[in-house]
Amino acid sequence: MPVKLEHILKRIQALPPLPTSAMRVIALTKNPQTSARELEHVIGQDPALAAGMLRQANSAYYGYARRISSLQEAIVVLGFQATQGLAMASAVAPFLKTQIVGYEIEHDGLWKHSMLTAMAAKSLCRKLKLPYGDVAFTAGLLHDIGKLVISIYVQEVGSYLLEKVTDAKLSYVELEEKVIGFNHATVGGFLAKGWNLPNDLVESISYHHAPTSSQNHAELASVIHVANGLASLLGIGGGVDSFLNPIKQEALDLLSIKESNLELIISDLGEFLLDPTIFS
Ligand SMILES: [Fe+2]
Ligand SMILES: [Fe+2]
Repeated sequence: MPVKLEHILKRIQALPPLPTSAMRVIALTKNPQTSARELEHVIGQDPALAAGMLRQANSAYYGYARRISSLQEAIVVLGFQATQGLAMASAVAPFLKTQIVGYEIEHDGLWKHSMLTAMAAKSLCRKLKLPYGDVAFTAGLLHDIGKLVISIYVQEVGSYLLEKVTDAKLSYVELEEKVIGFNHATVGGFLAKGWNLPNDLVESISYHHAPTSSQNHAELASVIHVANGLASLLGIGGGVDSFLNPIKQEALDLLSIKESNLELIISDLGEFLLDPTIFS
């Protein structure tokens, strides 16, 4: 039976808010007047955020030969936008690392899947020469946050959903809509709005399964859609739905992606996976 919108919104309100330090980092990195010093000051006030950022900055993914040992260095070397992505990664990690019931996602699975999607999205931007790789990284990281909100309903109707998938030949999100009334992408958009995230993130989360329906950010949403599909292909951290959401041709067309681009990104992802600290 479909769930009422007010129940979903209540569940969103019940979730812990995004740490204020992460919200301030987002606001500061968006403002061109901000100095590296101000940013360092805000991040430095949150020891968990600072430690998480340094750990990430030193992972093989960022590929720096020497060790980045101070926040100041991380901000200067990585730049403001990548700093925002890292701050977001360490702020949402505790959410994404929780057990997600319903989707049968392994422990830490959503975190791993989200990180891989983020990395694939950034690689894709690089290959396609799109100028917003770091925004795509953050959007990739957050794309499935709606699962945190509706997993409880998915758990109730999970086996029914799966049966229907085989019968009805619908995609998993279409089934979520049919049975719960909302899919996890739409609900993720509500959550992102509730967290006051910028509209490019809200839309790319809301439309990551229907990218060409995004009014203002169809290109970014398509990047996230394709990155999500590639990350799912690796079979790491995906839940029951991961094989039921193929990459849509319309997204490939919108981005003019060639098959060879996809192969290159898969091989990039394979290389990132060689680093055992990548998901730490
Ligand atoms: Fe999704
Ligand atoms: Fe996903």
